[in-house]
Amino acid sequence: MTAVAETPIAAPAPAAPPLPAVVGAGLRVPLVTGGGAEYADFDHAASAPCLAAVRDTLDAALPYYASVHRGAGFTSQVSTAAYERARRTVARFVGARDNDAVVFVRGTTDAFNLLARSVPDGCTVVVFAAEHHAALLPWQHRGSRAGRVVRLPLPDSPADAVAAARAALRAAPEGPRLLCVTAASNVTGEVWPVAELAAAAHDAGARIAVDAAQLVPHRAFSLAATGADYVAFSGHKVYAPFGSGALAGRTDWLRAAAPYLAGGGATGNVTDDDVRWNDLPARHEAGSPNVLGAVALAAACAELTRAGWDRLHTREQALLDRLRAGLAAVPGVHELRLWDARHPRVGIVSFVVDGVPAGLLAAALSAEYGIGVRDGLFCAHPFTRRLLPAGHDQAVRASLGLGTTTEHVDRLVGAVAELAARGPQWRYAEDDGRTVPVPDPRAFPVVGAE
Ligand code: ALA
Repeated sequence: MTAVAETPIAAPAPAAPPLPAVVGAGLRVPLVTGGGAEYADFDHAASAPCLAAVRDTLDAALPYYASVHRGAGFTSQVSTAAYERARRTVARFVGARDNDAVVFVRGTTDAFNLLARSVPDGCTVVVFAAEHHAALLPWQHRGSRAGRVVRLPLPDSPADAVAAARAALRAAPEGPRLLCVTAASNVTGEVWPVAELAAAAHDAGARIAVDAAQLVPHRAFSLAATGADYVAFSGHKVYAPFGSGALAGRTDWLRAAAPYLAGGGATGNVTDDDVRWNDLPARHEAGSPNVLGAVALAAACAELTRAGWDRLHTREQALLDRLRAGLAAVPGVHELRLWDARHPRVGIVSFVVDGVPAGLLAAALSAEYGIGVRDGLFCAHPFTRRLLPAGHDQAVRASLGLGTTTEHVDRLVGAVAELAARGPQWRYAEDDGRTVPVPDPRAFPVVGAE
């Protein structure tokens, strides 16, 4: 047999994994003017669509759905293992340290209400006026153990934020202190200097809790790398809309606090006269755990990580740059921002259009162009009000995500330009505080049981 010389063949470059698909991509919605359009969802920052991978994971988990931590049956054991595996996945997703706890909660609001009840009695809590209500309000609410809340004015720059936080924490009375700060604003998308704020908090003998609800759908976050003590985020903003979120971080305050809710699961033993409460994380997870929510949350975390943050970031920034440049070219459009226009931000743009109230703009974008945005003050009333230009009392927010395409961005920019130039083509009226098309000939599908 003749020997055949073997020519080395260059291995093909590994194909990039497909981008995570969202359920509902390509959905067509009716327009008041007749016909329909592919829905352009620019409301990811409120509730992101479900990832196909999350739905598939839930489909696979559902036959095994059963009680967690309670049942002796086979499916209970499978469900319990899935719940605890989800906790480990979430811990990796937020870069938790070995001794950090991950407590499943309903979302970021729930997480900070839990933390407010877990800080040591009399703790001074420092927040900026830029916070979402979820991070702004729990410290002063019923059940909070915080003794004093210091609300700092809006800082002129990220460096000023760090200096102001350091000064306020140092000036606080002796005793426990906590800084609570957003990682990325739900109004402007601007990214806050979390690692520097963590260092400043620690310099002042304080801790820092990070609201990462708007950051983690767009960028990686790590407790270990930033030095932050706590992080909270919500499933419905990371493409897992099944009622779960997480609070992760230091165990001591959480372990010493009274259980968030009293009930089964949080208890080790109950007698007629006494209750022995469980240790973390069960201590703060009373009631039947939302195992499917946790599994969905973990599936989203795993899928985003698998897709690769660099790639997701590059894609999103290209769409964001296109959107911001397009809007900036429309006469009468003003973008809301706290810092320099070049400051890093996630895919969120809030803006106003002179002569077109935000509610009318949002209604017309939906009814005439098939574009979904949010209008109002975005559950960050003090912050949004401070950013609004004179003559405006609300804004419109366009938030991008995995469902956004270049065509969506171009359609939004074109629609805003048309509405700014000549106003809506349909008639609109106020109805129960919302601006709605009148008449509204669109057929709305009936979803859900009666
Ligand atoms: N926190 C959500 C938002 O910013 C609801 O839209």
